[in-house]
Amino acid sequence: MAARGGFSNKLGFIAAAAGSAVGLGNIWQFPYVTGQNGGAAFLLVYIGWIFLIGLPIMVGEIAVGRKAQSNPYGAYKKLGGKSWAYVGLFGIICGVMILSFYNVVAGWAFGYFLELSFGNLLNEQDYSGFFSAYVADFRDNLFFSIAFMVITAYIVYRGVQKGIEGTSKVLMPTLFLILIFIIIYGLTLPNAMDGVSFYLLPDFSLINGRTIYTALGQAFFSLSLGMGALITYGSYISRNDNIVNSAILVTIADTAVAFLAGLMIFPLVFSQGQSPAEGPGLVFVALLGVFQTMGPLIGKIVGGGFFLLLCFAALTSTISLLEVPVAFLVDEKKWSRKKAVSVMALLIFLIGLPSMLGFGAVGAFTEFVSYEGGVKSFMDVVQDLFFVISLPLGGFLLSVFISSKWKTAGLSEEISHGNPSYRGSFIEKFFNLMIVYVCPVVLGAMFLLTVLQKFFG
Ligand code: PHE
Repeated sequence: MAARGGFSNKLGFIAAAAGSAVGLGNIWQFPYVTGQNGGAAFLLVYIGWIFLIGLPIMVGEIAVGRKAQSNPYGAYKKLGGKSWAYVGLFGIICGVMILSFYNVVAGWAFGYFLELSFGNLLNEQDYSGFFSAYVADFRDNLFFSIAFMVITAYIVYRGVQKGIEGTSKVLMPTLFLILIFIIIYGLTLPNAMDGVSFYLLPDFSLINGRTIYTALGQAFFSLSLGMGALITYGSYISRNDNIVNSAILVTIADTAVAFLAGLMIFPLVFSQGQSPAEGPGLVFVALLGVFQTMGPLIGKIVGGGFFLLLCFAALTSTISLLEVPVAFLVDEKKWSRKKAVSVMALLIFLIGLPSMLGFGAVGAFTEFVSYEGGVKSFMDVVQDLFFVISLPLGGFLLSVFISSKWKTAGLSEEISHGNPSYRGSFIEKFFNLMIVYVCPVVLGAMFLLTVLQKFFG
């Protein structure tokens, strides 16, 4: 399989898969979604989903990819036949749609990095107003999101080992360090403990249908599951690697970063007297007041450093999102990597334009439709359709595929390469139970519940 490329070793895969998992989903989205959904209670539900459903699905995806040595479409086709291939194709489409808006938010992070490090952003009084004006100004956005897409495309073009693996190995550890630094600083601020209580002391009355499916969608998104990113990365690992160990490490790294991101943000939000339910602006607004209190020089360094790392986290995820359709075109259509990367990056950028323009620049995209008791922007709709609903659906289909078509014997066979003690182990029984019974029932029910609540509620 040399022609398709591959990771150099197990560590390379773990860095790349953790790089895919850790992203805006952890640092930007997780804190604001937790803030909007009741804090600690949401965190608990989220962690439950991660380990009960997320981990078995992750192992399943990696195993499918490694067995088939192919992109999601090709993998389902090889192992399941023509009609299953559509499931893979649907995953690839979800990846394209997710990247279309993800790149826009990554562009904001990139712009904020430059504004903080080299501009006058720290002198600004009204951060919230600044953020609203910033995301509504499409010239800046256009520039930064083009820049982000070009960097992503270049890394993907360089290939699996040099591009994806090399980048992830450097960026991931750096990210951890700066997170820890800002957390320690935040905890020393006045009222920080109110934030800690909000984040860690659950009020169970806040758990409802919406919290439960939002946490599930968030868990899938954060672990990069349900659309074939890990099928694709799994196709680049060696048969001697231990899939279960790798998946556990990736899951722990992803959950740790999301958890720490919350621990970083909520003390800061409460010490600034801001609302934790602020929404998508949370990271872009609440943190700035804190950087300001550090004084001009330190504020620039730490603030700039934070947004640079947000960019890095986003970048290791955008490359995994772009790699999925690229692998599809290279494997199935025999396109050159260069052609596949250029065409896809351009197409996805264009699909992202309405999302970019839906923050005030164009009214029709800002107030696109209304459902679920509120007005939704174009980006809200793309998020609802292609991740809140579709990623758990992708997980449902994967579990049905494994239990009814490939069979758990096929799964165990694949996993036991590189992990001979897997057969007969407790963990094998746990995964099989989850994949055959729990995932299909829970994910299927959750899909119906989400659709009903959102569109017919
Ligand atoms: N997991 C990434 C994040 O948390 C987003 C992502 C989703 C990446 C799906 C790849 C596939 O930001």
